[in-house]
Amino acid sequence: MTSDRPLLAVDGLRKLYPMGKHRLWRRGAAPSFLHAVDGVSFTIGRGETVGLVGESGCGKSTIARLIARLLDPSDGSLRFAGEEIGRVPARHFGRAPQRAQIQMVFQDATDGLNPRFTAFRAIADPLLRLRRLSGTALRTRVEEVARLTGLPQELLSRFPHQLSGGQKARVGIARAIAVEPRLLILDEPTSALGVKQAGVVLRYILQARERGVAVIFITHNPHHAYPVGNRFVILNRGKLMGTWNKGEISRDELIRMMSGGAELDALTHELEGVLDEAAAP
Ligand SMILES: Nc1ncnc2c1ncn2[C@@H]1O[C@H](COP(=O)(O)OP(=O)(O)OP(=O)(O)O)[C@@H](O)[C@H]1O
Ligand SMILES: [Mg+2]
Repeated sequence: MTSDRPLLAVDGLRKLYPMGKHRLWRRGAAPSFLHAVDGVSFTIGRGETVGLVGESGCGKSTIARLIARLLDPSDGSLRFAGEEIGRVPARHFGRAPQRAQIQMVFQDATDGLNPRFTAFRAIADPLLRLRRLSGTALRTRVEEVARLTGLPQELLSRFPHQLSGGQKARVGIARAIAVEPRLLILDEPTSALGVKQAGVVLRYILQARERGVAVIFITHNPHHAYPVGNRFVILNRGKLMGTWNKGEISRDELIRMMSGGAELDALTHELEGVLDEAAAP
């Protein structure tokens, strides 16, 4: 039945980066590759929020870019609304019908922002390009999404270099949600934000979920991931450690899994030893 079909099915996804010097390969040296993403599979349905978590360098941003089709997979399949989108070369995906339906907010807010565009223009740009809105309707929509992401209206006339990291992060989020995507990928959207602004973004994710938007939420912060995620996909060095539904894992277990479990225990033990030594007379 079509209604049971996930919005996105990631199957055996792989991304290999060549390592070392290519000219040595020609001289007979065996090519070596970094397996940034190594056979990852998971699904996400409408109105679902998947927390994609794991330690630094485990492949989260690479997976996000592969799904948003900014990078070409080395192997595996990406089925979006039943259609294979993994084979369309990234450089052609801009013209694919699914382009507007999948929006991504970059980990580094400056990555997605044109330095010559004001915040208003940055948010309006995808709407203009899709010829969705113009004139007063466009202004109203930009102001609405700015409000939703907690971005004060007076910042809309500023350029990226005149904004703080957290303000740029909110411009990126406002821009991504302006076109009402079906799949929203947020790569560390709260890391540059204060407690209050992070709360605005987390609340927005919950609202988006209720409207049926599928959200992939990448974060290092289990206190942000746990309340909004329905499901957690945990990675370890490019490989899938497992997927857990919210009911199957407690917040403390999630914290342990995100930090590599045993490794965190060893570190705590070591730090306690260092602190004890420091406290000794
Ligand atoms: N263009 C590239 N060429 C070679 N290796 C890369 C490239 N981009 C990323 N990598 C490597 O791929 C691995 C995964 O990187 P990725 O950015 O996906 O990690 P991440 O989980 O998002 O980390 P973080 O939590 O620090 O943002 C890392 O080892 C990284 O060094
Ligand atoms: Mg990353």
